[in-house]
Amino acid sequence: MSSVPQRVFVTRTLPVDVKSFFGPDVAVEVFDAPRPPTREELVAEAKGAGGLVTLLSETVDGALLDALPDVRVVANFAVGYDNIDVDACTARGVWVTNTPDVLTEATADLAFALILALARRVREGERLVREGRFDGWSPTMLLGTELSGKTLGIFGPGRIGQAVARRAEAFGMEVLATGRDSGVPFEELLAHSDIISIHAPLTEQTRHAFDDAAFAQMKPTALLINTARGPIVDEGALVKALDAARIAGAGLDVYEEEPKVHEGLLERDDVVLLPHLGSATRETRRAMATLALDNCAAVLRGERPPNPVNDLG
Ligand code: GLV
Repeated sequence: MSSVPQRVFVTRTLPVDVKSFFGPDVAVEVFDAPRPPTREELVAEAKGAGGLVTLLSETVDGALLDALPDVRVVANFAVGYDNIDVDACTARGVWVTNTPDVLTEATADLAFALILALARRVREGERLVREGRFDGWSPTMLLGTELSGKTLGIFGPGRIGQAVARRAEAFGMEVLATGRDSGVPFEELLAHSDIISIHAPLTEQTRHAFDDAAFAQMKPTALLINTARGPIVDEGALVKALDAARIAGAGLDVYEEEPKVHEGLLERDDVVLLPHLGSATRETRRAMATLALDNCAAVLRGERPPNPVNDLG
């Protein structure tokens, strides 16, 4: 019999039947609201839980773990885990897990949707039709940019970055990449890319990687795509760069202070804005849920979880 309390708290309704996932010996509670729990709600409702299934909207830090001392696993329903203080978890013997691989293709698809939407002015064209302004085919209307022959710069060539690169190659694009310790120097990526797509985790090294200095080095025709984490881009600097025509456009699925969006972005025609939909396919979200619950269940059984991001030995 493992010593982990057989109680699980899930911070949001997931697209699988969470209660029947665990056996009858595990008590499962789901925070069943269309918003994340507040810190107070989380502390009150997760009391006594051995397993926490969290979203990127929950900050998991030492203070939360100290308030919930029974927690032995924080199973994040996401591949990114910048919402979790992993060192604080490790110091308290708490596993941290994520949901890698299952969202790679979905997120790469969405990055490409943003690339195509911006390059071919899909949003502006759609609005024109809906507003009754389509007067007929015109040789000069809403001209965009061709992908074939252009250079895509991947910032963070991990699993998702590589999946985007495969798509780009199928579109006849050249691909450059900058990784933590691989690929071309960042300056080269900035100078030579027609489109830059961000696929790096948010860390102290990547926070505000795209700032005034970075935008100053990009082509004035360049497009920036971010489906990773908002704070990798300095949104104020992005708005300034767009205002000054330092770059030509941006496609964003994530924001610096999510769900808040910088006001300077909202009225622009040269940006496409999505509400963090990278992994939002039915297939992927079910797979993410199953993976997060598998990780949680393994720790409740006293086993090593399948997708740990820390090492408890
Ligand atoms: C979503 O943003 C994730 O990290 O899975």
